[in-house]
Amino acid sequence: MPDGHRYPDEQREAVYRVIAERRDVRQGFRPDPVPADVLGRLLTAAHQAPSVGFSQPWDFIVITDRARREQVAALARRHRDEFAADLPGARARAFDRLKIESILDTPVNIVVTCDRTRGGRHTLGRHAQPQTADFSSVLAVANLWLAARAEGLGVGWVSFFDERELAAALGLPEHIQVIAYLCLGYVTGFAPEPELATAGWARRRPVSWAVHAEEFGRRGLPGEEPVDPLADVIAAIAPPDAAAMTAARERQDRMTKPRGSLGVLEEVSVRLAGLAGSCPPPLPEPACVAIFAADHGVHAQGVSPWPQEVTAQMVANFLAGGAVVNAFAAQAGAEVTVVDVGVAAPLDPVPGLLPRKIAPGTADFTEGPAMTREQATAALTVGLEIARDLVAAGNRCLVTGDMGIANTTASAALICAFTGADPAAATGRGTGIDAATYARKVDVVCRGLARHRLVVPVVPVVPVVPVLTGPASLTGPASLTGPASLTGPAHPAGPAHPAGPAGLTGPVHPADPVGVLAAFGGFEHAALAGFILGAAALRVPVILDGVICGAAALAAAALAPAVTAACFAGHRSVEPGHAIALSHLGLSPLVDLGLRLGEGTGALLALPLVQSAARALRDVATFDSAGVAEKL
Ligand SMILES: Cc1cc2nc3c(=O)[nH]c(=O)nc-3n(C[C@H](O)[C@H](O)[C@H](O)COP(=O)(O)O)c2cc1C
Repeated sequence: MPDGHRYPDEQREAVYRVIAERRDVRQGFRPDPVPADVLGRLLTAAHQAPSVGFSQPWDFIVITDRARREQVAALARRHRDEFAADLPGARARAFDRLKIESILDTPVNIVVTCDRTRGGRHTLGRHAQPQTADFSSVLAVANLWLAARAEGLGVGWVSFFDERELAAALGLPEHIQVIAYLCLGYVTGFAPEPELATAGWARRRPVSWAVHAEEFGRRGLPGEEPVDPLADVIAAIAPPDAAAMTAARERQDRMTKPRGSLGVLEEVSVRLAGLAGSCPPPLPEPACVAIFAADHGVHAQGVSPWPQEVTAQMVANFLAGGAVVNAFAAQAGAEVTVVDVGVAAPLDPVPGLLPRKIAPGTADFTEGPAMTREQATAALTVGLEIARDLVAAGNRCLVTGDMGIANTTASAALICAFTGADPAAATGRGTGIDAATYARKVDVVCRGLARHRLVVPVVPVVPVVPVLTGPASLTGPASLTGPASLTGPAHPAGPAHPAGPAGLTGPVHPADPVGVLAAFGGFEHAALAGFILGAAALRVPVILDGVICGAAALAAAALAPAVTAACFAGHRSVEPGHAIALSHLGLSPLVDLGLRLGEGTGALLALPLVQSAARALRDVATFDSAGVAEKL
């Protein structure tokens, strides 16, 4: 019997139960003292933790003295205030409602320390990784935490400290580090879920996202097929909930205002309800703008007056908080995240920068595919995983942003590829270019489309999903046949997403969105498409910025037509391709201010509109509830 040493069922269940029911507890502590024998059992459990080279680097300081706890509580308060001051609007409001420590509400505090030098230089296993000493002390914390739950004792871990400052306040010798400051006491109850989940601050990631088969990225639980994140996300995207939309429309009509007087915002609220599957829908806050940054091989064709280095320099500017997107995000109360999905220059690690570089820039699409299919798929996956992570971190609205010198050229090519638009109509002046550069840019787009022998279908493949106006119509705008010179050999009617040829030697077809992305796209386009799909799969609204995102949204919609139910067009850019993309997607822009900056700026301006639409549907009284007479 290989499992002959297994515990009896009841005991095994108790082990899993204590793991599942352990909670970080910060409220509902009772004043009852913790008996010495109980504390002794907890500390013995902690002391039985595994440790690197059996170095047992921990010590435990048991604190009950009120004056000492008051001193420590003052340190934590200062850090709490500093952290709060740095939070964007909605997060700051949510944080205000959270209790982050119970130093004075608990009868006992326990400090778990680490001596990284204990055992000397030959400590087995620590020589290569000094941090394993700290890990060992953390395992002691875990033992104590689980044992405490079994004893009916709540434990809260407080980390709002400068470690050296706390060590000095506790009078620790120089070589001893603080690993954990724990508050212990009997409680009125244990919450079934982490308080941060209940409060909407963060969500638990499904275990299937966290388990990889054999290599990082091949996600899947043992015994199950490895999941294909892109296929999974596409499969999860469903049409809006018709009942919730009907309920929202009816509520709008009963709200204390003339019918229809909120104009477009009424439809926005109806769409939010349809997406959430509930009326009223949750408020789309907190919100986070993700700026996907990458460089483009087509820059070598002289399509932009700006040097390529500006991409990396602007990334640094976003991270330093100095760009327009930062100003608009601060005003709208949104968080800013920057994703390096393919910036040519190496970027130093900085808080707020997610390093997800697929390659240092794409290839020039006039000479060959901008990226391989594998790279396009990898970038799509980056985008959808970032959407998942940001939603798991508690965001209820995602906002798209981009940075990439020359990316309006790639966007124009993508828009032509997906909609059949004329390159001259879809190509704009980007950051502002002279007539000669503009003519070159149009020519570059034409040459790119010809290079990939783009097959433009007579009937558009991307269905317009008129989320606002009723059943889907498959007929798009009339002018979808591209110029004759761009029409390649006839493409056989095939499956919706045929696997394109490796290396893209053959013609590309809009019915193969990954192939189109690989042919013309930037890494940011592919990642943005994945980001939009990821948001839609989680039924979280995503506010689209300008032409780069519009091009990416076409790819997303070609992969999963129902994705548009989650999309809110933040604004209309002056780039002509953007209007073409939006009309193809069946989306109406919320603002039209002549912007052409990108970064996520236009989408951020629309964020308060989307939030206000949801709040009105939620908060405004109805004629019956407010006792207001209706129009005769
Ligand atoms: C290393 C570490 C530090 C933590 N620091 C704090 C803290 O300073 N304040 C707080 O409220 N919670 C803190 N927590 C608790 C986590 O927020 C909590 O464990 C998480 O929400 C999961 O909830 P659960 O422990 O109930 O499963 C900390 C947890 C860990 C593991």
